[in-house]
Amino acid sequence: MANSFYITTPIYYVNDAPHIGHAYTTCAADLLSRWHRMRGEEVWFLTGTDEHGTKVERAAAANNVTPQQWCDNLVNSAWLPVLATIDASNDDFIRTTDDRHKLGVQAFWQRLKDNGFVTQGKYEGPYCVGCEEFKLPGDLVDGTGEYQGKDCCPIHSKPVEILQENNYFFALSKFQAELISHYEANPDRIQPESAYNEVMSFLKQGLQDISMSRSTVGWGIQVPWDNDQVIYVWFDALLNYATAINYSGYADGSNKAQFEKFWPAVHLVGKDILRFHAVYWPAMLLAAGLPLPRTVYAHGWLLVGGEKMSKSKLTGISPNQIVDHFGSDAFRYYFMRAINFGQDGSFSWEDISARYTAELANGLGNLASRLTAMLEKYCDTRVPAPGEYLPADQQIIDLIASNAKKADEAIDSFDIATAITFTKEIVDAVNLYVTEQAPWVLAKNEANRARLDTVLYVIAESLRAIAVLHHPVMPKATTLLWQMLGATALGSIKDQLMRSAGEWGQLPVGTITEKKESLFPRLAEEA
Ligand code: ME8
Ligand code: MG
Repeated sequence: MANSFYITTPIYYVNDAPHIGHAYTTCAADLLSRWHRMRGEEVWFLTGTDEHGTKVERAAAANNVTPQQWCDNLVNSAWLPVLATIDASNDDFIRTTDDRHKLGVQAFWQRLKDNGFVTQGKYEGPYCVGCEEFKLPGDLVDGTGEYQGKDCCPIHSKPVEILQENNYFFALSKFQAELISHYEANPDRIQPESAYNEVMSFLKQGLQDISMSRSTVGWGIQVPWDNDQVIYVWFDALLNYATAINYSGYADGSNKAQFEKFWPAVHLVGKDILRFHAVYWPAMLLAAGLPLPRTVYAHGWLLVGGEKMSKSKLTGISPNQIVDHFGSDAFRYYFMRAINFGQDGSFSWEDISARYTAELANGLGNLASRLTAMLEKYCDTRVPAPGEYLPADQQIIDLIASNAKKADEAIDSFDIATAITFTKEIVDAVNLYVTEQAPWVLAKNEANRARLDTVLYVIAESLRAIAVLHHPVMPKATTLLWQMLGATALGSIKDQLMRSAGEWGQLPVGTITEKKESLFPRLAEEA
C-alpha cells in the first residue's frame, strides 16, 4: 500500500542469547522504522524468534528441559529484554510457537499442496545444523584442524551431517525462470548490488526441488496432511513475515485488512541468509499467488578475528556489555555510523570510545551544553529573535537544507551510515561556527546585541534540525535535546516530519530553553 512501510528483521534462533550481531540488524530496522514514521508513513516493524528445528531441540536437550520450556525461558530472559536494551520500537514480536503462526503455516502449506507444488521424495545429502540448511555440493569447504578431511559449512566451520529422509518436496525448480525475469525487471528488489549478483548467479545455475518437511525431527509444526512429519524449520520460519500480519485471516477471507495494508515487506537480513529470503521465500510466495517482497536487503557481518560473530561458535559479545557502558544511543550511533550497511565490520572498544568522545560528547553534546549555557547567560534562557543573516549564517542555513535532503535520500538506498554522516557534517559546521562567531566575545559589547542574538538563534535552530535528523538514530538523547531547546512547543519530536527537517526558522522566538545534564556524559576513566 502506498503510504505504508512494513519492515522485518530475521526471526532469530533461540539456541542461545542474543549478541551484537542480532542487535545490529534490529537497530538498523528500528532506525529505518523511525525514519519512515517521521515521513508520516504507517509503519509496521516486526521482529521475533525462530524456535523450531534441530538446533533449538538439541540446545534444550543438552540442558535437560523441553524445547518449549527452553524457548519460553530464553525469549523472556534474553530476547525480549534486548529490545529494551537497544531501544527498539517494534510494533510486534512473533514467535514461531505462537498459535497464529502455526495456523498460518499450516494453511499456507495446505494451499501449496492443493496448488500442486508439493511432491514426495527422498532426501539424501548434507545438512548443516548451524544453518538448518540442506547444503549443495558447491556450498561446502574442506575442514581444517580436527575436521581435516571432512566437508564443512563455510559459515559454521563444522562438518555437515549426512541425512537420509523420506520427505515432502517443494517444487522450487518450477520458479527459476519467473524469478530470473522478475529480478531482471526489478533489480532493486535485492540490495546491495553484490547481493543481487550473488542471487542471480545462483538462480542461473538452476534450481532443484527442496525438502519442505522433516521426518527425523520432532520439534516443529506438523505437516497438515501427515502427522508423522514436521515442516522444515526454514519453511516454517520464513512464513512469519506473513503470519504476523494475519495471513490466516487473509487466506480464509475472514479478515484481509492487515495483510493487504502492509504486504509486501522490506526484509533486512544478514548475508548468511540471503538465499532463503531472495530465492526460496519468493518462490513460496509465487506458489501461493502472493506479491513478492518489496526489498531484500542483505547487510554485512560483524566479525571476530576475521570470522562472523556467532552463537554457535560462542564468539558473541552481549549488547548489554556495551550499552551499560555507553548507553543505547551511543550503541546505535556507533554501529550504524561506523560500519557501512552492506559491508562487514569489526567492533572495537577503542573505536567506540574514540567516536563517543569525539563525535558525541565533544561534538553534539558539547554544542547543546554551550548553547543552553549561553542562552541562560545572555538571553534569560529565551531563544532570541534573529536579525539580518550574514554569509556565515547563510552557509549554515544552506548546509542544513541540503544535508537534510541528502540524508533523506540516503535512507531510500539503505545507506544509513551516509545519512548519519550528513547530519554529523551539520554538527561539525555549527561547532566551527560557534568558535568563529565567538558569541562570548560579542556579549562583551552591548553594541553587538543584534549580532549576538542572530548567532545564538542560528545555533539553536540548527540544533532543532539536528535533533530531528538524529532522532531515528538516537531517540533518547534527541528527546532530551528537544526539551532543552524548548522545542516541545513544535509538538513531540517523533511527530516532526523529515521532509521539512531542513526548513529554516521553525524554533519559535521567545521559547524558554533549559540547561540539563550533558547529553553524553564523559566516560569514567578506564581502570
Ligand atoms: O538465521 N553480524 O537466525 P540466527 C551481523 N532463524 N549480523 C548478524 C551476525 C553477525 N555476526 N550474527 C547474526 C537465523 N546476525 C534464522 C532466520 S528468518 C525467517 C530466520 C543477524 O539466529 C543477521 O541478521 O542465526 C543474521 O542474518 C541473523 O542475525 C541470523 O540469526
Ligand atoms: Mg545463524
